[in-house]
Amino acid sequence: MATVEAGINVALVKYWGKRDAVLNLPAVGSVSLTLDRPGTRTTVRFDPAVSADRFVLDEVEADAERVTAVLDDVRARAGVSWRAEVFSANTVPTAAGLASSASGFAALGLAAWAALGLPADDPALVDVVRRGSGSAPRSLLGGLVELDRETGGVRPLLAPEAWDVRLVIAVTALGPKDVGSRAGMAASAETSPYFPAWVASHAADMAEARRAIDARDLPALGAVMEHSTLKMHACMLATVPPLFYWRPATLAGIETVRALRRDGVGAWFTCDAGPHVKVLCAAGDAPRVAAALAATEGVRGVDVARPGPGARVVGPC
Ligand code: DP6
Repeated sequence: MATVEAGINVALVKYWGKRDAVLNLPAVGSVSLTLDRPGTRTTVRFDPAVSADRFVLDEVEADAERVTAVLDDVRARAGVSWRAEVFSANTVPTAAGLASSASGFAALGLAAWAALGLPADDPALVDVVRRGSGSAPRSLLGGLVELDRETGGVRPLLAPEAWDVRLVIAVTALGPKDVGSRAGMAASAETSPYFPAWVASHAADMAEARRAIDARDLPALGAVMEHSTLKMHACMLATVPPLFYWRPATLAGIETVRALRRDGVGAWFTCDAGPHVKVLCAAGDAPRVAAALAATEGVRGVDVARPGPGARVVGPC
């Protein structure tokens, strides 16, 4: 038995599309920031007396299919066949575009791994977690993280305490999104005429983000983050049928960020496969950015997050 807490992560250079659906290898690399919000807390308890995996999410019995796939991988590694009970609690709305699948699969993979006594520094853990969700390995590490397109592995770019930035999250809608990332990516790869251009232009964004992080150059990092975000959404919009993840409040939030910038405040936006607006800024600017977003029409709540640690084992239960 083991319990793990994992923070959510938000991509600055985005992942959209796969080059291998079975291994869940991405078509493009990504750069992300793990946040200090305890996105998911998961307990895995293997029990030789239990005949099927059980998954309880936020105190409700849930479909165990994707959980079982991850557990099967871990069981194969450890050479056991025991079934497990999994209890998981999210602190961010599930499937609402706040990346809870990333913290969820990072917590599940590491908890199962630790429960069976497998070594946490074994790179195979990353493969297991990534097969659960492509963005999840990034939540294994803290701070700024790169997920490599070729290996599917992750490496730290900057520790959480090394750069005092904030990510201000403006929640613009409640409830689950229409099309999940997995189905959306498959549709974009198949039908969006912009998908090849998205893939071809990605390496330059990765290089620019690495350079900006090395130099602690927030305006440059913000600019490449917005460029990556807008290219991904252009690719989504050109998918057949189109993937519209934005709502009027999303655009209003983006407009707020652009207006702040015109007033000299360093703030840059990103959005994932959902309607929320996430804004990168320096710690000192966060109160002003948060106030402006809170006053934006349609914004239902604002949260100021800091860079946070990677997934960690917090106990047996
Ligand atoms: C838009 O990791 O949820 O948030 O690998 O199919 O589980 P699967 O997809 P997922 O996709 C996240 C996509 C994104 C951008 C990002 O986080 O990089």
